[in-house]
Amino acid sequence: MALPYLADPRVLFDPEPGSVYLDAATYGLPPRPTVEALQRALSRWQAGSADFVPEWDDIAEECRALFAELIGGTPEETALIPTVSAGIALVAASLPTGTEVVIADDEFTSVLLPFLVAAEERGAVIRRVAFADLASAIRPGTGWVAVSYVRSQDGRVADLAGIIAAAQAVGARVMVDATHAVPMMPIRPHLDGIDVLLAHGYKHMLCPRGVGFMHVRRSAVPTIAPYYANWRSAHRPYGGDLTLPDTAERFDLSLAWHAWVGALPSMRLLVDWMNEDAYARPLAQARALSDLLGQPATGSTVFSVPVNDADAVTLALAESGVRCAARAGKVRLSTHVWNSDEDIRRAAEVLSPFVR
Ligand SMILES: Cc1ncc(COP(=O)(O)O)c(C=O)c1O
Repeated sequence: MALPYLADPRVLFDPEPGSVYLDAATYGLPPRPTVEALQRALSRWQAGSADFVPEWDDIAEECRALFAELIGGTPEETALIPTVSAGIALVAASLPTGTEVVIADDEFTSVLLPFLVAAEERGAVIRRVAFADLASAIRPGTGWVAVSYVRSQDGRVADLAGIIAAAQAVGARVMVDATHAVPMMPIRPHLDGIDVLLAHGYKHMLCPRGVGFMHVRRSAVPTIAPYYANWRSAHRPYGGDLTLPDTAERFDLSLAWHAWVGALPSMRLLVDWMNEDAYARPLAQARALSDLLGQPATGSTVFSVPVNDADAVTLALAESGVRCAARAGKVRLSTHVWNSDEDIRRAAEVLSPFVR
């Protein structure tokens, strides 16, 4: 018999009674087993009774394997990182002088800024173009293209197939920030064409903040310098030479332990729900809610709605129990497995009068 949380993930969530939480793009809600694991770990920390290696550190290895499963990669291609910007900084700091990087002009800052630093420090050449023009902007001599698969500000979805094809035609490398894409969007069909893919886990992956992943394709590993080398990635606490694994695991940072304790139950559930096709429902709900509000669907679980004063409208919605965010002058909404169809109807009713 199917377990109840597989048939209906909502049984594992506790949003405030009466509220409609449509803000996974700001932070995802932790499922109950995640909160319980964190509470247990905090008690054992308080008591001094925890065995830190198996309880707080080794558990991240299962998270690594689970992330690989979510995107169709392997654990050896997966690094454990605390933030997207930390991963991108390694790539940016490793760019040969004069490397051209194509990037959207309004890309999220954790993706854009490390490359702007590389322009100042290493003579990288950053070509900023409109999001919709990324594929056509890639030309002979382009070294890297960097893009958010699903955009933070409005949920628009990048033309990954077009970007990858254009990059392959000129031998450029492809970096994808999949923070707003995993686990909802298909990564597997594109992964062969991606050199580096990063995702922070605290949004749609329902992990604590500080849990991030960086997939690095085998052929891209030698192009990135592992400046964060540390006791964990070297597997030894003192001394010795610079011997690191020759896989993406060489880019691991040592872990903020309790965040990873919370990540493990979330990651296990994400894989279970992927196998149950549970993400079809939030994707369909986002489409339905965009329709009800007269907006074009983005194809992701994130979209935004034009209003006159996004901050004021977001506040008014919060007072009606509907949680969403103001981003780039619009109201941003994002669905997840805890949302019911009734949530969608209620959000449409409350937001409709404000739509411009
Ligand atoms: C596209 C995208 N990437 C990454 C992040 C998080 O950045 P970082 O991991 O550097 O904190 C966010 C946060 O809003 C985001 O929207």
